[in-house]
Amino acid sequence: MGSIATAPGAQSRYTATAIGLHWLIAFGIFAAFGLGLYMTGIPGFTPTKLKLFSWHKWLGVTIFVLAVLRVLWRATHAAPAVAPGTPAWQARAAAGAHHLLYLLILVVPVTGYFYSLAAGVPVVYLGLWKLPVLIEANETLSPILKATHIWLNYLMATIVAVHAAAAIKHQVIDRDGTLARMIPFLR
Ligand code: HEM
Ligand code: HEM
Repeated sequence: MGSIATAPGAQSRYTATAIGLHWLIAFGIFAAFGLGLYMTGIPGFTPTKLKLFSWHKWLGVTIFVLAVLRVLWRATHAAPAVAPGTPAWQARAAAGAHHLLYLLILVVPVTGYFYSLAAGVPVVYLGLWKLPVLIEANETLSPILKATHIWLNYLMATIVAVHAAAAIKHQVIDRDGTLARMIPFLR
């Protein structure tokens, strides 16, 4: 058993806030990911393409804010202990994947943000508020940040796929109610 299972104050279930943030962020990421692939596939520079780039950035910034709130919530609220009988290696793998996911939901939008700035395009949130220009346009940094944004996205997609597959396996094969912890109406 990992230390999480025996942590003092461990709860028997996730709080409604943790569940709400989990799914808001998950669907936000699915949308931002799909939009990212779609918009970059549009040839040339059309008004639609520019509009979709803006939407992608606003969605990404929103996800970042939600991710910060989520990490703060998690830091102050214990997660429920793993299902009894879970092999130690699985508990460790799940904890490792969760830590990486928390990191990626913060770092992926940050790389997108810095890429945009390095490419010389400040982000105007919802077309209303110009967000801080933390770095100047930089031709050397720009392609590196773009590649980092793309590859961290693929890394995140891979971990999410394994994470979702594990959750479904627990529900369908082990029937230990793990998925129901994040989807309460399955209970
Ligand atoms: C969790 C949030 C985000 C996700 C899941 C995401 C995902 C993606 C994906 C999948 C692509 C397409 C990559 C490809 O070319 O294959 C992309 C491209 C891009 N993203 Fe994001 N992104 C996020 C946040 C952001 C943010 C916050 C910004 C900027 C404020 C941003 C700016 C961009 C830009 C400018 C591109 C185009 C790169 C190019 O020209 O090829 N992204 N993103
Ligand atoms: C971008 C998508 C996703 C992200 C970033 C994500 C992230 C996370 C994180 C960080 C946790 C750990 C919560 C904690 O204990 O502190 C978690 C838990 C969980 N997630 Fe996801 N998730 C995503 C999508 C999904 C999907 C699609 C499913 C289901 C098919 C799912 C099912 C679950 C379940 C069941 C738990 C609770 C695990 C447990 O109690 O041990 N997640 N998720």
